[in-house]
Amino acid sequence: MTSFVGRGAELADIRRLLGASRLVTLTGPGGVGKTRLALRVAEQVGRTFGGRVWLVELAELRDPALLAHTVAAQLDLADHAQGDIADALLEHLADAHVLLVLDNCEHLVDAVAKLVDRITRAAPRVHVLATSRESLGVVGEAGFVVPPLPVPDPEAVTSAAEVLRYDGTSLLIDRARAVRSDFHVDDHNYAAVAALCRWLDGIPLAIELAAVRLRSLSAEEIVDRLGDRFRLLTLGRRFGPARHQTLQATVEWSHALCTPAEQTMWAKAALFPGGLELDAVEAVVVGDDLPGSAVIDVLDSLVDKSILSTEGGEHTRYVMLESLRDFGLRQLDAEESATLRRRHRDFYADLVATLRLAYLDGSGDVAMARILRERGNLRAALEFCATEPGEARAGMRMAAGLLAYWSAKAAAEGARWLDRLLAADPTPSRERAQALCDRAWLPVLRPGQSASGFLDEAEQVVEELKLHSGLESILIQRSRAAACLYEGRPAAAAEILARVLTWFETWEPSSEWDRAYRPYALLSCRIVLALAHSATGEPRQAEALLREALPVAAEHGHTSQRAVGLWNLGMLRLEAGETAEAAELARECLRLARDIDDQTCVADGLRLLCSIAAAEGDATHAALLWGATAEADQANAAMIISGWESDVYARHRALAHDAIGEESFDAAYRLGAGLTTAEAIAVALDERPARAQRLAKLERTLTRRQNQVADLIAEGKSNREIADALTISVRTAESHVDHILSALGFSTRAQIATWVASGRGEPPPP
Ligand SMILES: Nc1ncnc2c1ncn2[C@@H]1O[C@H](COP(=O)(O)OP(=O)(O)OP(=O)(O)O)[C@@H](O)[C@H]1O
Ligand SMILES: [Mg+2]
Repeated sequence: MTSFVGRGAELADIRRLLGASRLVTLTGPGGVGKTRLALRVAEQVGRTFGGRVWLVELAELRDPALLAHTVAAQLDLADHAQGDIADALLEHLADAHVLLVLDNCEHLVDAVAKLVDRITRAAPRVHVLATSRESLGVVGEAGFVVPPLPVPDPEAVTSAAEVLRYDGTSLLIDRARAVRSDFHVDDHNYAAVAALCRWLDGIPLAIELAAVRLRSLSAEEIVDRLGDRFRLLTLGRRFGPARHQTLQATVEWSHALCTPAEQTMWAKAALFPGGLELDAVEAVVVGDDLPGSAVIDVLDSLVDKSILSTEGGEHTRYVMLESLRDFGLRQLDAEESATLRRRHRDFYADLVATLRLAYLDGSGDVAMARILRERGNLRAALEFCATEPGEARAGMRMAAGLLAYWSAKAAAEGARWLDRLLAADPTPSRERAQALCDRAWLPVLRPGQSASGFLDEAEQVVEELKLHSGLESILIQRSRAAACLYEGRPAAAAEILARVLTWFETWEPSSEWDRAYRPYALLSCRIVLALAHSATGEPRQAEALLREALPVAAEHGHTSQRAVGLWNLGMLRLEAGETAEAAELARECLRLARDIDDQTCVADGLRLLCSIAAAEGDATHAALLWGATAEADQANAAMIISGWESDVYARHRALAHDAIGEESFDAAYRLGAGLTTAEAIAVALDERPARAQRLAKLERTLTRRQNQVADLIAEGKSNREIADALTISVRTAESHVDHILSALGFSTRAQIATWVASGRGEPPPP
């Protein structure tokens, strides 16, 4: 990320507002610096919230109905809740002390206002910091209008030194030096630099766009060229154009200075909410107006011009700021835009199909990581399918390809897409049969829906289209079995699955996809059957199945299946009195689940470890872990799919409760409930290094310079002495000291000195 300039007073004001008000909205025109400021505040007050700061990026979200899902996903809240996800979110936040940063709300103001209103009512310790071009209009909202950076008055300044005092100038210089390292303000150009900053109104984005031009133009030349545009806007005005016009004009100017190929790239890349990677550029953006051979150069030059920025190490991702995306989209005419949206969808549909195969091929983790990076684009593609006539089937295929993702992380969102797609095209088709099956598999039902309802219809479709030899029939049976388990009829589930497994032996897959899916489907049927046997009190059958299935899952890289299997086996060993073995299995399950961020399995692993601790007589630890699972528990309540599991947990919970009594149990439980899911996992796995990692992170929050300043404080130096030692200004030294204090949650220099002297350990809680 680029360096941060100025804003000391604004930061202090916003921190104060956040202390006094539960909702603070930073407003201001595009590019004025709302997002940067919000992130900075979040960093500074992080400790006050015990590190529980959640950033929810809303720029890439278009559908207000998905707002609560997006927030929930960011909170690691598995999207499994029955009914309304917003209710689950509120319940989850009810006792939480967190800061929620909702960035770029302007296009979703109504939905955000409603949700935030509910959150602030239901969750008295949640604070929300929002950024938006307009205020949310919620009762109790503290608005903060983000001013531009201060800039010199060109008519009043008389020296370079004076011009340098303004933060707007500092930003210009900083960005100019990135493209031209010898840029400086001197007696010759100070007046032009002052005029330029003034023309740009101190709007950081405008300054950044203009600064890159200093590579080849002098400040005077830029003032001349930009001035022409601005003079038109200022006719009859005393102080330059209105701010949104300033940015608009600067963006237009940047655009005019782009080559046609760059302009094309800018417009087309704007179609990708949440950014794009090189494969997408090649598939969607390349065309007659932008040959493939030019792509890399064009991307590089747009990065140089601050139109795109890059993210990520291994897979470079190009992202565009919201204001620039808005502008880019406006450059496409309707026809062009429709063609491109289709190509965009085609690309992501293909990508999903590839990832789906990769998933079966042991690269599930890589596939999942890409899906997570592409959420914004996948939503845009699904939206196209759901709204464009004749595209619903393609959407159903995509949704099917995303089933592993929906089940692990976003069941309610997946259910919503499937419901929309199924409604968009009711004609019987193979895709519909599959979509109905997938829909039944997701544990989210709205009034009037039932898993068996979906499956009955899927069976009709199979019947009508004679798809009996296809995968669909197996999946229908698998979903039926899961539904039976869920409804408390494990024997029926076992019967169905046993039949399916026999049938598998003779099944001849007819398509490439069916063939690829066969081992996975077989595995997952075995895993579900093991659960059914566990629930019907046939542990031996269950164990035999699991011992057969686990190596297969490991070999094929089906990590989440493996985690479920380990958990189930752990439960069985616990019930057999083999707690040490059970604990091994549970820990392995938990480690795997954490690796792939499968929240359902995390909750399973944690609950199992609670029960084991209780069985081993460590009731306090059990109670603490139970508290620690509360968060995961709430989110996943609906995922306890068999009564057998609940019985095992309830029995052990009662055991721990009776062993130490209500009061001690509650005290330990509350202690555990204060942990985040990540901390809970570390505690459950008895990972001391978790603490060390947190400390390392803490130290990283101080920059190298700030660590030097901390050293000097520990030597008893004053701000002036620090400034001299590091050849910085006293003001800069002061601001370093302020930052250190707020990062560490301290109020005195003596605390910093003690902290350094004791080896920069974790500071005591404030
Ligand atoms: N104080 C600052 N120091 C350095 N760079 C800044 C500062 N404030 C903003 N910027 C830069 O200016 C650009 C625009 O800032 P930002 O994205 O925060 O604006 P915004 O108000 O959130 O715009 P939008 O309404 O489009 O979301 C970014 O590239 C950002 O890094
Ligand atoms: Mg922003």
